[in-house]
Amino acid sequence: MSSDPLIRTINLCRYYRRGQSEVRAVDTVSLAVNRNEFVSVVGSSGSGKSTLLNLLAGLDTPSGGEIEIDGTPLGSRSRRELSTYRARRVGIVFQSFNLIAHYTALQNVEAALLFNHTPPRERHRLASAILDRLGLADRMTHRPADLSGGEQQRVALARAIVKHPEILFADEPTGNLDEDNSRQIVELLADLNRSGLTVVMVTHNLDLARTYAQRIIRMHYGRVVDDALVGGPAQ
Ligand SMILES: Nc1ncnc2c1ncn2[C@@H]1O[C@H](COP(=O)(O)OP(=O)(O)OP(=O)(O)O)[C@@H](O)[C@H]1O
Ligand SMILES: [Mg+2]
Repeated sequence: MSSDPLIRTINLCRYYRRGQSEVRAVDTVSLAVNRNEFVSVVGSSGSGKSTLLNLLAGLDTPSGGEIEIDGTPLGSRSRRELSTYRARRVGIVFQSFNLIAHYTALQNVEAALLFNHTPPRERHRLASAILDRLGLADRMTHRPADLSGGEQQRVALARAIVKHPEILFADEPTGNLDEDNSRQIVELLADLNRSGLTVVMVTHNLDLARTYAQRIIRMHYGRVVDDALVGGPAQ
């Protein structure tokens, strides 16, 4: 049924054992994200936002509970199916960028298109176009070390969206940007969302979340303590 959620978690848990004690980074989280929603995840530092995103993106394995994508448990997929899920359907902007240090900005973005054998010329065209759109036309040959934090963040976003994923998981995609750039980036995400992209964005910027997201999920000590619709942008 088309009203079925794209992502659903059922009592999702991720615990870290530290000697005798246990950190409940994600603790019995049950939530749903509908297709074509723009959801923001907020909460104080250490509340489990990045851990939750990594689980949803198939980069980490739950300690308990389940994640369903399109009604199919992620846990039931083979390693190969999981890497296909990550490569084709999901775009991820990591909080710490995770750019390849010895690649240029352009090569970092092109690399996201290697999975489906896009011809080199086409990879170049698509990657340059998206970097241009993100205001990095004159930074394409820079390596990450020769880019500012905000520029690296935009390269990381370009890499995540160049392959036209179905779901974008963005962990603080504006964490290193000034107010103007932050707004521009989130407006771009809202644009992509209007053309069908499902967005899950972690942010500390409540104003941006309230302006652009349709729903805000608040985490506290690994749990979802609030999950409420907001106005979202005027359509
Ligand atoms: N590998 C690990 N081993 C042990 N504890 C961990 C590990 N990774 C994360 N944690 C703990 O899990 C909790 C949640 O971490 P997480 O990175 O998900 O928080 P966050 O909400 O993303 O915080 P921030 O806003 O600072 O990015 C934190 O208390 C953290 O210390
Ligand atoms: Mg985090």
